[in-house]
Amino acid sequence: RVYKIAILPGDGIGPEVTREAVNVLQVLSEIDSTFQYEATEFNWNSEFYLKHGRMMPEDGLDMLMDFDAILFGAIGDHRVPDPVTIWELILPIRKNFKQYVNFRPIKLLKGLESPLKQNDPIDFVIIRENSEGEYTNSGGTMFHAEAREMAVQNTVMTRQGVTQISEFAYQYAREHGLTKVTNATKSNAVIHAMTFWDRIVEEVADKNTDIKYEKYYIDALSAYFVQRPESFEVVLASNLFGDILSDLGSAIVGGLGIAPSGNINPSGEFPSMFEAVHGSAPDIAGKGIANPMAQIWSAALMLEHLGRKDLHDAVLAAIEEVLEEKKVLTPDIGGTASTKEVGKAIARKLRK
Ligand code: NAI
Ligand code: MG
Repeated sequence: RVYKIAILPGDGIGPEVTREAVNVLQVLSEIDSTFQYEATEFNWNSEFYLKHGRMMPEDGLDMLMDFDAILFGAIGDHRVPDPVTIWELILPIRKNFKQYVNFRPIKLLKGLESPLKQNDPIDFVIIRENSEGEYTNSGGTMFHAEAREMAVQNTVMTRQGVTQISEFAYQYAREHGLTKVTNATKSNAVIHAMTFWDRIVEEVADKNTDIKYEKYYIDALSAYFVQRPESFEVVLASNLFGDILSDLGSAIVGGLGIAPSGNINPSGEFPSMFEAVHGSAPDIAGKGIANPMAQIWSAALMLEHLGRKDLHDAVLAAIEEVLEEKKVLTPDIGGTASTKEVGKAIARKLRK
């Protein structure tokens, strides 16, 4: 089978790091004849917007529909407002392709040091609800008189939405031999939405009693991320809580140059999309010094999603070897190497 992969390099450092990730796919296909892929590039970025007045063609989603997966760089350019790039490209893909899982590994790779002064291995995943919850456009502002001006922002949680993300968390735990799911909540204060969230999460937990369940309020949980990150395995969170926890999580294991993510449509009805957590980094774009590891790791997550956990593991091992040698690293993690040199070093490890 030949995997069809859509490549959206995007803006700024997006194309620079995506090139290295595609090169890794190329190397894999050369050393492993059972892995074949066909990459198709789409130049839907800010340049495209300035030419055509939109971030993607009218039938853009249809064009992506038949791919097995999407590898996304990053977008963002000072000539186009951020809400346009995000709301017209990333969000339509996430929403229309029902990528309701935002998947973020928080793993301290060998060769990296955590800013936390602790030696226990950090290795867990955050499974964030990616389609509803606190991030909706339901609400508004009211102005009667200045002293009474107010804003209302609604949280939308549906039985279907909370059930499917909870089921994904348990299924992920089981498939990966993990023993515990941690629910991030705030049902003591957000009494309608979060008590509902807890109730549905716990219905799913009750059907999966072979896996331990625990629940923490988000404020305490944030502190535990710093104090005992080694104690987590799968952290299940709503859209807002998961967003914040993900950045905290990536900060304790090496930062934005490393952090990968997946936007997953678990049913496989639509393609899933994989992207580094970082943005287009205009401050270093064009200098050739962006760390490609986050995007290469994202490509590895894509391979695992496509059923090739063996290739995922091989890519991660190659990244770790390069990190452990500490010879070819980009400036963000203390080296002087270029994006290309790091990409090549990882490819060399794979070929061995
Ligand atoms: P950013 O992630 O682009 O950059 C934050 C800082 O991290 C910068 O100092 C940058 O140089 C550094 N950095 C990021 N990735 C790096 C890498 N691979 N290697 C080394 N250093 C790296 O976030 P920022 O500055 O807030 O946003 C810049 C643009 O990116 C904005 O237009 C924003 O909207 C967009 N953005 C896009 C995202 C996406 O496409 N999914 C996600 C986040 C931001
Ligand atoms: Mg974020």
